Amino acid sequence: MSLKDQKKACKIAAQALKYAVSLAKPGASIKDICEKTESRIKELGGEPAFPAQISLNETAAHFCPDEDDTTVLKDQVASIDIGVHINGYIGDNAATIDFSKNNTELVKASREALNNAIKIIRPGITLAEIGKVIQTTIERYGFAPVRNLSGHGLDQYNIHTSPSVPNYDNKDTTELKQGDIIAIEPFASKGAGIVYESSNPTIFQLTRKKPTRNMITRKILKEIDKYNNLPFCKRWLTKKFGQAKTNLALRNLKQLNILAEYPPLIDKNQGLISQAEHTVLVKKQGCEILTSV
Ligand code: CO
Repeated sequence: MSLKDQKKACKIAAQALKYAVSLAKPGASIKDICEKTESRIKELGGEPAFPAQISLNETAAHFCPDEDDTTVLKDQVASIDIGVHINGYIGDNAATIDFSKNNTELVKASREALNNAIKIIRPGITLAEIGKVIQTTIERYGFAPVRNLSGHGLDQYNIHTSPSVPNYDNKDTTELKQGDIIAIEPFASKGAGIVYESSNPTIFQLTRKKPTRNMITRKILKEIDKYNNLPFCKRWLTKKFGQAKTNLALRNLKQLNILAEYPPLIDKNQGLISQAEHTVLVKKQGCEILTSV
């Protein structure tokens, strides 16, 4: 394990998130912000660990604009999630901006839940204790924590490993230990606090390899191989290969059963959602926020 690479990836993730937030103004296109942020990640010496995502309103996560997306920021609640890797070592962080100006408390709820979780993290703390702090903080604001989304461990070329860090008191008595690196990501919802997978995924991941005879698919697979089994988005492929070839290849990979799809995750009752996230390192006493600029 390379702590040096991971720390650097986290630093770049924090700088890239800050940059994305600076671009996020009313009138800005979310596709432009994502593309510019992904370029910035590369300029800073990293690679996206997953496509830059801007999920709006009742969408909690996994929205990544296609090449022809024309969505513009105006009065939404926008959650920006940025992941960076260096040699597979990942930094993951997120922030929410409220352009509606009516949801300041919602944004504060997930941010404060994250801060309160970070305050209690130390070796020996249980996952349930972290979940409980997140839950009570968000409920104090009158909102619901999203229960079926959670923080996670980060492994080389693997964004979601154990432990799964709950956003509510799930009674998990697993303890954190010194040296653990985890992403904490509370989501606060004005609705159900449960998300479902909607349709029209734009984020994908290759799950394993299989030979294919189709020439176009083979060519596109070569490009996908460069992502090292990390998630990628359709936009990255259509930019290189166009819509028709990309659609054909994705269909083909799906038929071969080697493509995972990550459709947008939407609140069951269409409630607005905010998110805050940091990657932290558990230290002898407390923890260190790795995704700080
Ligand atoms: Co995460």
